[in-house]
Amino acid sequence: MDLFEYQARDLFAKHGVPVLAGEVIDTPEAAREVTERLGGRAVVKAQVKVGGRGKAGGVKLASDPADAVEKAGQILGMDIKGHTVNKVMLAQTADIAEEYYVSFLLDRTNRTFLAMASVEGGVDIEEVAATKPEALAKIPVDANEGVTPEKAREIVEAARFPADVADGIAEVLQTLWKTFIAEDALLVEVNPLVKTGDGKIIALDGKVSLDANADFRHEDHAALEDKAAADPLEAAAQAKGLNYVKLEGEVGIIGNGAGLVMSTLDVVAYAGEAHNNVKPANFLDIGGGASAEVMANGLEIILGDPAVKSVFVNVFGGITACDAVANGIVQALELLKSKGEQVDKPLVVRLDGNNAELGRQILSDANHPLVQQVDTMDGAADRAAELAAK
Ligand SMILES: Nc1ncnc2c1ncn2[C@@H]1O[C@H](COP(=O)(O)OP(=O)(O)OP(=O)(O)O)[C@@H](O)[C@H]1O
Ligand SMILES: [Mg+2]
Repeated sequence: MDLFEYQARDLFAKHGVPVLAGEVIDTPEAAREVTERLGGRAVVKAQVKVGGRGKAGGVKLASDPADAVEKAGQILGMDIKGHTVNKVMLAQTADIAEEYYVSFLLDRTNRTFLAMASVEGGVDIEEVAATKPEALAKIPVDANEGVTPEKAREIVEAARFPADVADGIAEVLQTLWKTFIAEDALLVEVNPLVKTGDGKIIALDGKVSLDANADFRHEDHAALEDKAAADPLEAAAQAKGLNYVKLEGEVGIIGNGAGLVMSTLDVVAYAGEAHNNVKPANFLDIGGGASAEVMANGLEIILGDPAVKSVFVNVFGGITACDAVANGIVQALELLKSKGEQVDKPLVVRLDGNNAELGRQILSDANHPLVQQVDTMDGAADRAAELAAK
């Protein structure tokens, strides 16, 4: 999960990374009082989860409270690379002498953590990295040893930070590493890390990405989620523990096993070319144990998607055999009906693998008016696409 800058700033503050005071608002008028509290001047910063905000006009200096109201009014509602600005942070202004870059990240390719640092930080760091790679130091960090004072010194030297800031930067690197480890982050980045006119080192902008696999040890991380941005169907699926991703099309997809579902998406997209270009409406992997309850949960999410016109249930029976899945489908449809859910979209079911014959027999016997069976994956995809195109 990527965080907003103000959330990253809060985590930095919690772990002792030096930051400036700031507050988040969502109406221009609120800027007046906040700016007064911050000392009469403020930087107004768009809170969107995308880089390059400054260059897009999403970071502006306000010289007094009235000016802050005006700047906040300009930035709120702005579109930055497809992200609408719903919140701005007002931050104290720093007297910047120099801008640096530091980050820690998980380096999957090399199976280690990586520190990156540069004395040429600021809004052009991407260009520095691309055209002057030697100006961006990259130092592996051993997971067991972490950023010791010696490691911090090594990073400082590799990036050739000036002597007057060496100690200050080394200190920040250690607190930033503490943040990275304590919060189970995949990335912590400070750009710019600045030296002020009076020689202080301060993190002026932060980017943090948290590892969702570690959520179970961070109860406080759930509160960082941007509920407004989440797709409602994806949120509902997540609440039911389903592996669901909303897509753009009209054919709802349920399958068991991520690989099978991925290839089902391909087959449906291909079949759709002959049927008004209909496309898969979602990814949904109900996993190995396709119980009636899991099947009902999956169907409920998919049938709740107004874009869905037909549903393709594609199951390859393994440890959970096709008869169990077939019973699951029959019971799921009854369960949904008894819950008063609207079940009015055609279901195309393809069962193959362990006990396929028995599973098909169970579905034929149930004789549900919405359920059709096709024995091959390609044939079923074609039928589902045809029904969706109607
Ligand atoms: N509190 C502040 N005081 C003074 N100047 C600031 C402050 N915050 C940011 N700036 C200036 O604005 C520039 C851009 O700000 P910031 O780094 O937060 O946004 P950005 O780099 O454009 O966004 P991103 O890092 O997402 O690409 C900084 O490099 C810095 O020069
Ligand atoms: Mg920045």
